[in-house]
Amino acid sequence: MMFGRDLLTIRYARREDARVLASMTSALIESAVSQRGTSQRWGERRILGHMRSPNSMVIVAQRRNRIVGFAAMLFHDEEAHLLLLAVTPSERRQGVGRQLLQWLETCALNAGISSVHLEVVLDNHGARFFYLGSGYEELGVMPHYYGRGYAGLRMWKELWKDNM
Ligand SMILES: CC(C)(COP(=O)(O)OP(=O)(O)OC[C@H]1O[C@@H](n2cnc3c(N)ncnc32)[C@H](O)[C@@H]1OP(=O)(O)O)[C@@H](O)C(=O)NCCC(=O)NCCS
Repeated sequence: MMFGRDLLTIRYARREDARVLASMTSALIESAVSQRGTSQRWGERRILGHMRSPNSMVIVAQRRNRIVGFAAMLFHDEEAHLLLLAVTPSERRQGVGRQLLQWLETCALNAGISSVHLEVVLDNHGARFFYLGSGYEELGVMPHYYGRGYAGLRMWKELWKDNM
């Protein structure tokens, strides 16, 4: 018999999540640019640093006891920078990524921040569609942003536009 899916919880990341988040970052985000020797940029220690920083927020989406997605944002005075966002492949296209992003955007908005910026690998078309559908605009291409031969695309969203 089929029952509904387990509830999705979004919560702040905890110290003990750091190792899982580092390995998810490596497998789900950095793998797209690592074939040409780019070393891992997001280790456990760096993620822990953002969990502890008053200027950053790291959140996870959890189903039962399993982390199925996560996101990290850095807050400046007037703008925020989305550092990481990933959802495990079996959980994609069910709104997990959108919920994580909206959670952080709401925090940014409540902190008086007017825009969110991010970079994405230029040929990551799935993520580009996701961000475009979430109200982001493409700002410009940065050649070799992720290493030789790997261009990045900068995107941004004006938060106040929809909320003023
Ligand atoms: C990008 C990512 C976070 C999206 O997470 P997700 O949970 O699948 O996204 P959602 O289910 O919330 O998608 C919301 C909408 O975005 C769009 N979208 C999401 N993924 C898409 C894809 N691969 N292709 C086209 N549109 C997509 C759709 O409009 C979708 O709504 P729909 O499913 O009702 O059509 C996920 O694909 C991922 O983890 N990718 C690998 C890591 C990555 O690229 N991170 C971003 C750069 S750091």
